[in-house]
Amino acid sequence: MVLRRTVDLVRTRTSERRAALSTVTTGHDDEPVTIDAVIRPDGPALPRLVQGGLALAAPLWTMRRLRERYGAAFTVNVPVIGKAVVISDPAEVKQLFTTGQETADNIDFNLGRVLGPNSFFALRGEAHRRQRKLLVPPFHGRRLRGYEAVVEQEAVREMATWPEGREFATQAPMMRITLNAILRAVFGADGAELAGLRELLPAMVTLGSRLAVLPIPRTDLGRWSPWARARGYRREYDAIVDRLIAAARDHPGAPDERGDVLALMLRSRYDDGTAMSRDEIADQLLTLLAAGHETTATTLAWAVERLRRHPGVLRRLADEVDAGGSELREATILEVQRVRPVIDKTARQVRAPSLHLGRWTLPRGQVVLVSVYLIHTDEALFPDPHRFDPDRFTASRPDTYQWIPFGGGVRRCIGAAFAHMEMNVVLRTLLRDFTLEPTTRRGERWHSRGIAYCPARGGRAVVHRRVPAVRSGDGQEG
Ligand code: HEM
Repeated sequence: MVLRRTVDLVRTRTSERRAALSTVTTGHDDEPVTIDAVIRPDGPALPRLVQGGLALAAPLWTMRRLRERYGAAFTVNVPVIGKAVVISDPAEVKQLFTTGQETADNIDFNLGRVLGPNSFFALRGEAHRRQRKLLVPPFHGRRLRGYEAVVEQEAVREMATWPEGREFATQAPMMRITLNAILRAVFGADGAELAGLRELLPAMVTLGSRLAVLPIPRTDLGRWSPWARARGYRREYDAIVDRLIAAARDHPGAPDERGDVLALMLRSRYDDGTAMSRDEIADQLLTLLAAGHETTATTLAWAVERLRRHPGVLRRLADEVDAGGSELREATILEVQRVRPVIDKTARQVRAPSLHLGRWTLPRGQVVLVSVYLIHTDEALFPDPHRFDPDRFTASRPDTYQWIPFGGGVRRCIGAAFAHMEMNVVLRTLLRDFTLEPTTRRGERWHSRGIAYCPARGGRAVVHRRVPAVRSGDGQEG
C-alpha cells in the first residue's frame, strides 16, 4: 500500500524552496511512502510580528509591494493565521473556488461564537451544503422584486432627513437604510420587534466581532464583563426572535402569505422532510444581518464618494434615471465594487492531506487568501485598473473569477443578488430625488472598520433636493 504523506520542507526563501523541490520518495521496509513536497510561493522572510504590523498599518500598499516583488502569488507569515498563501491569478482562484469542500473549505474562525454554531460561517462540508440548499432560493429571482418596495421606502424615509447644501457623511445613513431593509425583508420584523432589533443589533454585532478575536476567559469575569454583556444581548435577541417566529406562525394564513426570509425559512424543508430548528433560524438570521448590513452600506458610501469625483458619470446617471433606464447605474455598482471592494480578501483552508493548486502543493491546514484587491487591480485584466470607469461593464458582464467582490464557489455570498438590488434601488432613489454636488477634493482614503474597508471620511456628500420635499414622505409606513 502506498501512503501519501505531506511534509513541510519549504521555507519562504528561494534557496530553501529549491531544497523542497528535490524532495524524495521514501518509506519503511514494507511500506513505501511517497512524500509530497510542499511547494509554497516565495515571500518575505521578515519576522511574523513585522509582517503583521505592515498588514495592519498599510494593508493595500503591502499587497501591491508584495505583488511587485513576488508576482501573483506569495506567502506571508502573520500573527493569528501564521503562514498564509496569497493568490491572485484568476486560474488559481477559479481552481480554489471550484474545488470540493472536502479539499478546501472556510477557515476555522471564531465567528461561531459570535453568530452561533448554526451560522454559515461556523458550518462546514455537508452541514453547510444542507443550509445553502435551503437558503439560496429566498435570495433569488422574483423574490427579490418583492423586497424592492421595502428598500425604497427605507431609502426615502432616511433621505428625507438629509440636510441640503451642507456636507455630511453618508456611511451612517446608509447603515440605517440597510439595517431597516434587512430587518423588514429578512426578519419580517415590524412594530415593537423592529424597534427592539434596531436598537439591539448594531451594538450586539459590534461587541461580538471584537470578542471574536479574543481568547475565551477561563473564569467568569462577572456580570459587568463584556462576555456577560454579550450573553445578555443574545438572550434579548433570542426572546425577540421567538416572538417573531410565533407571530409568523400565528399570522392568518401564515407563514404562507408572507414573503420575508424568516417566513420562507419556516416553510422550507430539508431533503429528509424536517424543518429548520429554532436555533438554526436564530443563528442564520443573525448571520445574514451581520454579513449583509455593513457591507452593503459601505459600498453605497463608496459609490457616493466615487461619483462626486466623476461628474461626467454623475450627469449621465441623472439623465438615465429621468429616462427610466438602469444600464449605466448597474454598471456603476459593478465598477464601485471593483475599485473599492469592501472585503479585500476571502479565505479557505486546505482540508485534504494536500492540495495541488496551480503551481503550488499545499499541506493540510494551509490557509489560502484570495486577494480581491490584487485581482481587481491587475492591469492585464482591467486596463488602467485604478481608473473609475463604469463603461467597462456597460457592454459586457464581468468574469466570474476576475470580478470577485462577493467571493466565489459554494461559499459565494448568498446575499449578492439582494445586495445588488438594494444598492440599485438606493442609488436610483438618491439620483431621482437629489442632485449630488461634485467635488474636486482628493478621493477619500480606505479605512478598515474591522470587517469592511470604508471611505475614511464616511463618503461625504452635499445634496440638493430635486423634487418637492413632500414626495420624500411617500411610502413612509412600516
Ligand atoms: C455589497 C455587499 C456585500 C458584499 C461585498 C459581500 C461580500 C461577501 C463575501 C466576500 C463573502 C465570502 C465569500 C467567499 O468566501 O467566497 C460573503 C459571504 C456571505 N454573505 Fe455577503 N456580501 C454582501 C452582502 C450580503 C448580504 C446583503 C447578505 C444577506 C442578506 C450577505 C450574506 C452573506 C452570507 C450568509 C455569507 C456566507 C456564505 C457561506 O459561507 O456560504 N452578504 N459575502
